Amino acid sequence: MTKTVIVTGGAGYIGSHTVVELYNAGYNPVIIDDFRNSKPWIIDRIESICGGKIPFFNVDCQDELAVKKVVENYTNVHGLIHFAADKAVGESVAKPVQYYQNNVGSLCAILNVMQSCNIENLVFSSSCTVYGEAADPAVTEETPIKEAASPYGDTKITCEKIIQFATKGEGQLKSTLLRYFNPIGAHPSAKIGELPQGVPNNLMPYITQTAKGIREKLTVFGNDYDTPDGTNIRDYIHVVDLAIAHVKALEFLDTAANNSAEPFNLGTGRGSSVLEMIRAFETENNLKLNYVIGPRRAGDVPMIYANPKKAQDVLGWTCKYTVSDAVKHAWNWEQSLGN
Ligand code: WQD
Repeated sequence: MTKTVIVTGGAGYIGSHTVVELYNAGYNPVIIDDFRNSKPWIIDRIESICGGKIPFFNVDCQDELAVKKVVENYTNVHGLIHFAADKAVGESVAKPVQYYQNNVGSLCAILNVMQSCNIENLVFSSSCTVYGEAADPAVTEETPIKEAASPYGDTKITCEKIIQFATKGEGQLKSTLLRYFNPIGAHPSAKIGELPQGVPNNLMPYITQTAKGIREKLTVFGNDYDTPDGTNIRDYIHVVDLAIAHVKALEFLDTAANNSAEPFNLGTGRGSSVLEMIRAFETENNLKLNYVIGPRRAGDVPMIYANPKKAQDVLGWTCKYTVSDAVKHAWNWEQSLGN
């Protein structure tokens, strides 16, 4: 029997790419999304890539009863991937209560529904932000979790703790905590990609919108860091590689011990500076980007990138795409959006 997987936030950036990879792997993905950070037409695009219908339900994940009603439509639900959350670091500083209410509240609702519907397998969308500024920037899953620099980061740390305690409580819950580094790029078809609402917070969508003329120029947030070219270093991972890791995490849970919560770093293992990303974008897409050097952004850590060995060894997952692929796909997607 086909394995049904509930995907909350499945119309979002990483969620939509993961739904495609679940479908490709033979699962039956079911989307729950309230489109607060996506658009309904993304569902049509996902179906166009997959070549089949994808059930979706316009539901707020904080609404436990509504989520339960959706899940009860399906027998043999193999697992649940929980993406639905607010994710803008800066916004979380301005609206902390909204972030705790949504990110933590939704997770608690999801966990209650999983327990009452006997769904054992949870894949949780976490973030490398839980590490803060690590002594060794090549972080492993054993790198200590630091005091969060933002309410967004703290909701991720809090949610991981809730899941770890929930796996030790009643029931048979088992979970993977996927700590993303910096997702970039878009599906090679250019049918789905990142859809930032308003002014982008993240580097890549700001670059593509600048290249398109939507933004006048990119401001590089500081070039006086203790790095080779003075700009921050991050681990930029293609969103399709990230999506495939979620399928691998589900497969891992098939044989994982009940009452376990395993963290995995999902990054390439290579760091790139902001200036290197600008150069890569210019070279790959044969254009010049208008940028200036500006002041540092509060809360930025100078350097962080993954040691992805555990995911490689345990999940059997490795990245296929390069930064060059990602900046090309990101630009193709931006151009596909029209004005
Ligand atoms: C990357 C680099 C900036 C914009 C955050 C969250 C993380 C995840 C990804 C959700 C930094 C520089 C950026 C700009 C710039 N979020 N930059 N000018 O801050 O590493 O991670 O987003 O899943 O959890 O913490 O990503 O893309 O904002 O910044 O110079 O206009 O680009 O200083 O060095 P970040 P980012």
